[in-house]
Amino acid sequence: MALRFLSAGESHGRGYTVIVEGLPAGLPVSLELLSSELARRRRGWGRGPRMALERDVIEVWSGLRDGLTTGAPLSICLDNTEWRSWRGAMDPHQVDQQAQDKVVSCPRPGHADLPGRLKYGHLDMRNVLERSSARATAGWTLAGTVARALLIGLGIQVRGAVTSIGGVHLADPSSDEEWARAVRSNMGCPREADESPLINRIDSAKEEGYSLGGTFVVSIKDMPTGVGSYVEWDRRLDGRLAGALMSIPAIKGVSLGDGFDLADRPGIEAHDEIHLEGEALIRRTNRAGGIEGGMTNGQEVMLRAAMKPIPTMKDSLPSVDLSTMEAHRAHVERCDVCAVPAACVVGEAMAAWVAASAIVEQFGGDRFEDLSRRVQDHRSRISNG
Ligand SMILES: Cc1cc2nc3c(=O)[nH]c(=O)nc-3n(C[C@H](O)[C@H](O)[C@H](O)COP(=O)(O)O)c2cc1C
Repeated sequence: MALRFLSAGESHGRGYTVIVEGLPAGLPVSLELLSSELARRRRGWGRGPRMALERDVIEVWSGLRDGLTTGAPLSICLDNTEWRSWRGAMDPHQVDQQAQDKVVSCPRPGHADLPGRLKYGHLDMRNVLERSSARATAGWTLAGTVARALLIGLGIQVRGAVTSIGGVHLADPSSDEEWARAVRSNMGCPREADESPLINRIDSAKEEGYSLGGTFVVSIKDMPTGVGSYVEWDRRLDGRLAGALMSIPAIKGVSLGDGFDLADRPGIEAHDEIHLEGEALIRRTNRAGGIEGGMTNGQEVMLRAAMKPIPTMKDSLPSVDLSTMEAHRAHVERCDVCAVPAACVVGEAMAAWVAASAIVEQFGGDRFEDLSRRVQDHRSRISNG
């Protein structure tokens, strides 16, 4: 059975619903874990005022009983606390006068607005904006957190850290403590001293009215060896992970291991030599980022993603009012100055989703205990050569 999730909802609608299907029965999923990951997605410095207004109120509607999955589809509803003030404008049957004030006729460069209008024919681009909004990634984070719960149960950790904002670069985490700090920290930073240079950079961008992008790294630690496959393009784990991270709004680049740097290096400095230590096969480097030939090789999986600067800024970009066909500044909906620490949490969730999906496909089992035993047997077989 494959894992799959579907999400439904709009940014200012009633809320988001996420349905996760294909989970084994007996997997512990706690409300605390779901809530704490959603809270992490709200983190960062320079988030827009909406972060203060929104409250993430979640309710599990099905598929979970007494804290354990039942094997039935798991559905989770995320309430939109702002919906009350948007009710009239977002009414599914007949919008009221309020909707007139919320019409979007000046597409925002860097958003789905213009191609979405041309594709679906929406004269009011609010229909595009509401669904293309990155608010949807709260729902993806919920699905990814369910996947994270499955990975935790198998002894696999997914962690993330911010590695740059607006050209201010940080070193990757170099110890479990630094990873743990990055996961806890409001800015996703591995070391306390990293925070103020990032905050200063965001403050100066805010003062001057522009937005910033940046990069983050996601690690998947203790994946079983041999997850994914080289036998078909769509079974390669590297491709699946890259696709999932790339699907996050505003992510414009994804790499694995030493990624783009490898292109400039001679071959002797680009791979991870295989050595014998006693009877164990070991590597002294992890340039491949834990995946060779589309399969995990037993090393830590290391992914990196680049986020473009948020397209909405205080002074919006030049655009055209499509109702008059005259030059006009783009519509302004909401403006985080920088959302890299939040995107990193979404990146962790999407990486967890792909890792858990590949494991469920490969090892299967209707009960979590069966899946867990199969993974354990596989690990022992590999470690015994
Ligand atoms: C966590 C997160 C928060 C975001 N916040 C904003 C925002 O406040 N304003 C904005 O214009 N874009 C924001 N974006 C980026 C847009 O959603 C994204 O650029 C847009 O949907 C177009 O997608 P594309 O950049 O992948 O083409 C955010 C993205 C993420 C991942």
